Amino acid sequence: MKLCMIGTGYVGLVSGVCFSDLGNQVICVDKDDKKINDLQNGIIPIYEPGLDELVKKNINNKRLNFSNNLKDSIKKSDIIFICVGTPTKRGGNNADLSQIYGVAKELSKSINKYKIIITKSTVPVMTGDGIEKILLKFNSKNKFAVISNPEFLREGEAIRDFIYPDRIVVGSNDKKSARILKNLYLPLITKGAKYINTSRRAAELIKYASNAFLATKITFINELANLCEKININIDDISIGMGLDQRIGSRFLRAGPAYGGSCFPKDTKAITSTADKFATNLSVIKSVIKSNKNRSTLLLKRVYKILNNKVRKKKISFLGVTFKANTDDMRDSSSLTMIPTLSKKGAIISYFDPTGYKKEFKKIKNVNYVKSISKCLDKTDLVIIHTEWNDFKSLDFNRFIKNKKIKVFDMRNLYSPHKMINKKIKYYSVGRG
Ligand code: UDX
Repeated sequence: MKLCMIGTGYVGLVSGVCFSDLGNQVICVDKDDKKINDLQNGIIPIYEPGLDELVKKNINNKRLNFSNNLKDSIKKSDIIFICVGTPTKRGGNNADLSQIYGVAKELSKSINKYKIIITKSTVPVMTGDGIEKILLKFNSKNKFAVISNPEFLREGEAIRDFIYPDRIVVGSNDKKSARILKNLYLPLITKGAKYINTSRRAAELIKYASNAFLATKITFINELANLCEKININIDDISIGMGLDQRIGSRFLRAGPAYGGSCFPKDTKAITSTADKFATNLSVIKSVIKSNKNRSTLLLKRVYKILNNKVRKKKISFLGVTFKANTDDMRDSSSLTMIPTLSKKGAIISYFDPTGYKKEFKKIKNVNYVKSISKCLDKTDLVIIHTEWNDFKSLDFNRFIKNKKIKVFDMRNLYSPHKMINKKIKYYSVGRG
């Protein structure tokens, strides 16, 4: 099939490349000329394991193309995926849909034959209705179908998640487009992927509800971790004990720093704002947002306590600063709150991240990027393990750290407290007494 992905951000690029790998002819479009130029030369703008090989392979076999010409790309394609950003509007919780509706306006003038137009970006319920209205201004109803087909890709695992999805959700209001979409996904369905067809509005809501639920699960376990710390219980035992109940499930029950990334913070806000619009109070999700916001402050208080409330001139080493491992994404990472606050309190901070230097800390006083774990840990007062990269999972701290009074605050519970005590390391973790 001939596909066009509008927007070469995370969603558009990964999905486009994977669709081309399944044998489709794909054009990925973006108005950023430099990005398109780079992509044509196999330079990938995001860090995603395995993506560069797949891009090169499909450029070479001529199934994957990049273009900055939206109109032309639309005309050449049968199925058009809208994959542009839907960030939170400034000063509120609503999703900013200007890019989505901007694309819809462009589309409405370029429909030369029957087209299926799909929102893959996360969009509030009834955005599909809005797109349809725009398209109807210049086109008759039988010329197009608007579908919602949300993505559930996790950064760092995106290619695997595309090929082996837990489910594929397609929200369509007519049979013809639903049939074509099922055909597009057939290679994954025949390999066992579950496929569900719902109304368009339901598919839009499934995406928000899923992300909000996962954010709730994480927040739930994070709050329980706070309780465990007070009563000397290991939160990991609670996660395992709860997770074995199949109604609950073990995933997304790892206590840690505040959740971040490009989806959970934005989507939890957007779903509550949609509900408010329809006079429905999603109070659980609202309290999740509030609790997650407080989480960084709470963990910072633990840092102060670990340092006996003497933060000034203390050397603090951050291992990992992105919102989670296997990504270079800094969006809504809790390090963006923690590092500037510690700097204001007079700490001297070094950070190492496997994905390199971060411009976000450029203007923050006494914050330095170092190129290796050993440099980061040299002569430090406190090591903070902020993300769960494999690189940080079996470090010999005694070898790295010259300071004999080693303190490690492991925010991802990567190490065993007993083993660390045996090594005479003052070890602190999350929800483990
Ligand atoms: C998420 C959804 O999982 C994905 O389906 C959606 O399409 C996009 O948003 P992503 O943002 O890549 O994916 O990250 P994810 O792996 O879900 O983690 C989100 C946040 O939750 C991270 O900050 C992570 O560290 C945190 N997390 C996750 C925990 O703290 N504990 C867990 O057990 C799981």
